Amino acid sequence: MTMRTLVIIPTYNERESLPLVLHRLRSAVPDADVLIADDNSPDGTGKWADEQALNDPSIHVMHRGGKAGLGAAYLAGFAWGLERGYEVLCEMDADGSHPPERLPALLAAVADGADLAIGSRWVPGGEVVNWPKRREVLSRGGNFYIRVMLRLGVSDATAGFRAYRASLLERMDLGGVEARGYAFQVDMTRRSLAYGAVIKEIPISFVEREVGESKMSSAIVREALLLVTRWGLRDRFRRGGKG
Ligand code: GDD
Ligand code: MN
Repeated sequence: MTMRTLVIIPTYNERESLPLVLHRLRSAVPDADVLIADDNSPDGTGKWADEQALNDPSIHVMHRGGKAGLGAAYLAGFAWGLERGYEVLCEMDADGSHPPERLPALLAAVADGADLAIGSRWVPGGEVVNWPKRREVLSRGGNFYIRVMLRLGVSDATAGFRAYRASLLERMDLGGVEARGYAFQVDMTRRSLAYGAVIKEIPISFVEREVGESKMSSAIVREALLLVTRWGLRDRFRRGGKG
């Protein structure tokens, strides 16, 4: 028997990209349930998702009031999934950058004992395709800064393609998660380690979206820089204090 799996897909204006991703996901992992967490997308993504859910009982839609960040959408999705007894909760982008075909490899890592499997761009065998140079520099630079400040031992700490063992999320204090933007991924990585999680990185090929737009903004970058610096300094003081 495989583990009961929920794939959470946060969406904001992904009407053009979601259909293909959902189709690929259904073929790659037919047994998994899907939760689309839509922030009242003006382009009608949520309405389209509702139509799919009508014909397919394994598709669920969460309608949120308005754009409140990737992290907030995932926290609501986790709570939804934990309440319903899923054993594995996955995160995946709606724009096709995270190949659903790699989800079985992530799930296999969790079945093999990992508490968190991360689809990673920055381990051997991982790569990015068609990413603008400045995004690549930002991601590599960000991960370098995270490595120096936080020493997590994870190569792609900002990655958003993940499979969490539900028991890990259950014992974490999710109410304390501060980050709302992409720093959410870093925050979840450090919290997972603090709770003794076994983390495994699985190489993926991250393919830049062909339709729609990235929601990355300077506010998201600023939040990440501020939080990573704050966490790094705080941890250092604690370590120093213990001598
Ligand atoms: N519900 C909701 N609310 N969804 C959101 C929001 C939001 O405020 N912001 C973004 N999303 C959804 C998008 O619709 C998409 O499905 C997913 O989150 C990722 O957003 P993108 O805008 O495509 O992200 P990206 O390609 O720039 O960033 C990727 O790289 C980041 C840095 O490595 C993602 O993989 C991020 O998860 C990752 O942190
Ligand atoms: Mn994207």
